[in-house]
Amino acid sequence: MMLTYKEFSANNIPFINQTMVTFLKKSNQSELLLESMAYSLMAGGKRFRPLLLLATVDFFEVSFESQHYDVAAALEMVHTYSLIHDDLPAMDDDDLRRGKPTNHKIYGEAVAILSGDALLTEAFHLVSTAEIESALKVELIRLFANASGSSGMIAGQMEDMLGENKKITLKELQDMHSKKTGELIKYAVEAGASLSTDNLEVKKYLIEYAEYLGIAFQVRDDLLDVIGDETIIGKKIGADAAHDKNTYVSLLGIKGAQTAFESYCDNAQEALNQAKEILNYDKKETLLDVILEELKVM
Ligand code: IPE
Ligand code: IPE
Ligand code: MG
Ligand code: MG
Ligand code: MG
Repeated sequence: MMLTYKEFSANNIPFINQTMVTFLKKSNQSELLLESMAYSLMAGGKRFRPLLLLATVDFFEVSFESQHYDVAAALEMVHTYSLIHDDLPAMDDDDLRRGKPTNHKIYGEAVAILSGDALLTEAFHLVSTAEIESALKVELIRLFANASGSSGMIAGQMEDMLGENKKITLKELQDMHSKKTGELIKYAVEAGASLSTDNLEVKKYLIEYAEYLGIAFQVRDDLLDVIGDETIIGKKIGADAAHDKNTYVSLLGIKGAQTAFESYCDNAQEALNQAKEILNYDKKETLLDVILEELKVM
């Protein structure tokens, strides 16, 4: 029987958490810095990206080992750093994250900036120590840097910021979403696949699945900023409109954003089905199907 999303996350989140915390403790020199990093890491994120990476490994019927948790934990560290910086007064200026005051509200801006810097750097440090054959490890680090850096997530954050108070086209919005949110989600799948298979054709379809999933994820985030429940999403709603951000809701309205979300999910499912067909999984439900279904309800 296929695990439910709830079971899969309950089985694996403790290992993801333990990998992050143990590694940071080992390489830490400052109690305050560690406290601040741990505050944001353990504030209760969904762990969507590391779980997606593990689900991709599972797609190839490979069982999880320490190196999978290392790469997954590193990804969650980069994601958490991106949130700490995204919430800063100079960026989205948010007070609530993961149901708690944002990092700078507790530790001040300077420590929040440094905690983000440290999480980013230590994430790469963690991957460098993972038990992975050298050439593959270098490739994973290259992909990770590409997804996080100035042509990936940061490029998307730049477009997001420069787009404030100015209307962009739907195509520009789609491009921004695929960078600011899609790139790390794509990396989750690409890293999981690279650790598990040499089948380039399957990998190609899984990456396509991830690209649609990534945009769908941010469209859903845009929707939740308008129709979400603060106590469930753990952040203040209405923040995008307050900053005059370009979102799927601002461009297409709630109904239009919902329709776009559904069609990106359908595209993701089609790409996943192609990958499954190659492996003769036609009738099998995989964790990647389960994650896509979960995105529609969570
Ligand atoms: C929020 O990400 C920021 C986006 C890129 C949309 P998540 O919705 O994954 O936030 P957490 O990790 O669960 O807090
Ligand atoms: C997040 O976009 C993108 C990041 C890379 C952090 P948002 O600014 O919409 O994320 P939330 O809504 O604050 O979580
Ligand atoms: Mg933002
Ligand atoms: Mg934000
Ligand atoms: Mg948002």
